[in-house]
Amino acid sequence: MFITIEGIDGSGKSTQSQRLSEWLEEHTRTKTIRTYEPYSFREFILSGKGISPMSELLLFLADRAEHLNRVILPALNEGHNVICERYNDSTLAYQCGGHGLKISHVKNIIASCNFPEPDVKILLEINPELAYSRVIQRHNLNDKFEAEGLELMKRVSDCYLNLEGYIVIHCSDMNESEVFAKIKTELEKRL
Ligand code: TYD
Repeated sequence: MFITIEGIDGSGKSTQSQRLSEWLEEHTRTKTIRTYEPYSFREFILSGKGISPMSELLLFLADRAEHLNRVILPALNEGHNVICERYNDSTLAYQCGGHGLKISHVKNIIASCNFPEPDVKILLEINPELAYSRVIQRHNLNDKFEAEGLELMKRVSDCYLNLEGYIVIHCSDMNESEVFAKIKTELEKRL
């Protein structure tokens, strides 16, 4: 299975991906690889202040092509499960919702890349104020996307909610274990 986890910064993707990979490995008795994006050119992308949204888009797509080539596709071909934090919908939510590129245009560009579709997409939906307060507590504002602040998070969050094909988990009023229980219930229906 190829599963992606999406959500704004501070929505809890890493925590849930860790729990999910342990559970999925046990439940399916199949090795499960946990990964994330940006991956291949991560430091370059995250430190690239002041670049245009179009350059940013192309960098994220190049990063994805390489990530697929080096990590995701080899793992899937070996018969492993892959859980990936962020994928195509991050590009739509951030580069379009966040930074103003036209969504129909970017959807076409992504489609022409022919990247494989995930079997399951999970969206961790959370109040942007709450997520942003967590990000600030992590003191991790070197990441240029996180540094753009709450207004960006709100736009990204709205854009995520307009995308389709997700298991949407509303996380604002739940603790980690409750969120994971929901994810597990939804996945069990699909496995
Ligand atoms: P990261 O530190 O990995 O944040 P998180 O732990 O929340 O995933 O930073 C990744 C940043 O890159 C994040 O702010 C979102 C952004 N991003 C895009 O803008 N477009 C993309 O296609 C991807 C994959 C990430």
